[in-house]
Amino acid sequence: MTLPVYLYGHPVLRKITKDIPLDYPNLGALLENMFETMYKADGIGIAAPQVGLEDRILVIDLSPCKESDPACDGFKKAFINAHIIERDGEEEIMEEGCLSIPNIHEKVPRPNRIRIQYLDENLQPHDEIYEGYKARVIQHEYDHLDGILFVDHITGMRKQLIRSKLNKIRDGNVTCSYKVKRSNK
Ligand code: NI
Repeated sequence: MTLPVYLYGHPVLRKITKDIPLDYPNLGALLENMFETMYKADGIGIAAPQVGLEDRILVIDLSPCKESDPACDGFKKAFINAHIIERDGEEEIMEEGCLSIPNIHEKVPRPNRIRIQYLDENLQPHDEIYEGYKARVIQHEYDHLDGILFVDHITGMRKQLIRSKLNKIRDGNVTCSYKVKRSNK
């Protein structure tokens, strides 16, 4: 089942999410719905606040990126109760977009290496290091779990330039190819 994607301006996107209990009801169905919602919107990652939930969950499937980066092939993962415990490596700049902020793409600087602790879809614990594009996408989705959006990383002139576009999305004046939940409705 696809879920509506909550758009920029909705307060749930600014919440700091909480770890879920291990007896969280229907976790499997939620993960399936998050993947389905993401695929329908042609996304490569989605976090729980984007479907209106204050839970510390994100899902990623980088398969569409395998042409440009073979390491992305088959990288389909759920990160539950995720906590990034280290960020290092060089800072890289790359263009990002977000299903909650349609039609805006901007360059965002991020460290290229992270260490993350999380539970997988079977609630098994992991402690892993990711680099490059994987680290970037994980950090983008992980930001959502702390109420942070990629546009928050943009400053100065670029921020001024996208301000009116952001205001339009916030005010519900945006068209989307997927089901959305506007902040004012
Ligand atoms: Ni996003």
